[in-house]
Amino acid sequence: MSMELRKYKTILVTGGAGFIGNHVVRHMVKKYPQTKVVNLDKLTYAGNLENLRDIENAENYVFEKVCITDVKETARVFQTHKPDVVIHLAAESHVDRSIVSPLEFVETNTVGTANLLNQAKNLWIAEGFAGKLFYQVSTDEVYGSLGPSGYFNEETKYDPRSPYSASKAAADHLVMAYYHTFGLPVVITNCSNNYGPYQFPEKLIPLIINNIRHGRPLPVYGDGSNVRDWLYVTDHVTAIDLAAHQGRIGETYNVGGHNEHRNLTIVQTLCDLVDGKLGNTQGTSRNLITFVRDRPGHDQRYAIDADKIKSELGWTPAINLKEGLSLTVDWYFDNDRWLENVTSGAYKEYYEKMYKVT
Ligand code: NAD
Ligand code: DAU
Repeated sequence: MSMELRKYKTILVTGGAGFIGNHVVRHMVKKYPQTKVVNLDKLTYAGNLENLRDIENAENYVFEKVCITDVKETARVFQTHKPDVVIHLAAESHVDRSIVSPLEFVETNTVGTANLLNQAKNLWIAEGFAGKLFYQVSTDEVYGSLGPSGYFNEETKYDPRSPYSASKAAADHLVMAYYHTFGLPVVITNCSNNYGPYQFPEKLIPLIINNIRHGRPLPVYGDGSNVRDWLYVTDHVTAIDLAAHQGRIGETYNVGGHNEHRNLTIVQTLCDLVDGKLGNTQGTSRNLITFVRDRPGHDQRYAIDADKIKSELGWTPAINLKEGLSLTVDWYFDNDRWLENVTSGAYKEYYEKMYKVT
């Protein structure tokens, strides 16, 4: 088993202005000051350069506003920066949106990934694949839905159920196809539900925190019995760093925190946490919980067996759920302006001012 530590001159991160991406970019810029970090992002509704204000002037950071399906523009970025690793996060990521607009998900998540694989192959084939890596950041949702027991491991058969997970599964298959057919060096990680600062407030945890702030109903789909396995976002970032530098070529690794909880429990915990922090009578926020129509095709349960990345790469999550939820609630309460900007759309003006686009 090779545990070679790869070193990179230039890291291309796609989707670096999104939730997980901004944490990845910040981590790489700070931890590897001699490495150029190129952030390629289209800035969809989910991409926000305000997330990167603290490092935007770093000498080793470059931003490229490009769509991953644009063949000409992505070719220009690959030719200009000549990355030796691509950490691919850019995607349409919200399951509910994929039910409304499935084709956008296929276009970005599947076709966009195919284009990036091709760009990487075209750039690297001339100089040889040694020391290069195409790293696909994927999801546990590709495995489908579990019953009351059991875990997803790396041998679990793909069985995606939503347009989002199907578009990611197709992308993962293309990644492996480029590995087997062309010898492109690849690694895939499949991670469980992330939460933490800078997550767009359409996802369960920030949506609930934001609605409690405004005294709005807290929508729980179905009976709230669906189970997700929660991981604090910076723990995902340390897994990405390890897998990018030491992951075995051609392998997949599952990443998850062993924090499986029913949605209703997560919502109730958030209510109690906020009431405690604001000095409200316990139960005040729970009164806002509202059961609503279920998500079509709603996967019942996800749970990750993360033994492989733990034993091979020494990954361990540092933040437990209690601590992580508390940090997250504090962050959203301390960052009112960020929340107001992303819910009003004002954050788009930041890019226009910063890059003088009219
Ligand atoms: P996000 O929606 O917060 O961010 C996505 C980013 O991709 C945004 O900055 C957006 O502007 C950019 N983007 C979208 N379409 C693009 C395009 N066509 N070209 C260039 N950029 C584009 O997503 P996230 O939650 O940070 O997820 C990032 C990645 O991690 C995704 O690939 C997702 O499947 C995967 N993932 C997410 C989770 C999770 O819990 N959030 C868990 C496991 C895996
Ligand atoms: O498992 C990893 C996946 O986690 C990622 O690949 C996706 O990009 C990410 O969005 C997330 O998908 P989920 O669908 O699990 O996350 P979401 O926050 O949308 O929902 C979490 C659970 O909460 C899910 O069972 C649906 C439920 N839910 C969600 C919302 C938005 C509610 O009950 N009410 C809500 O308002």
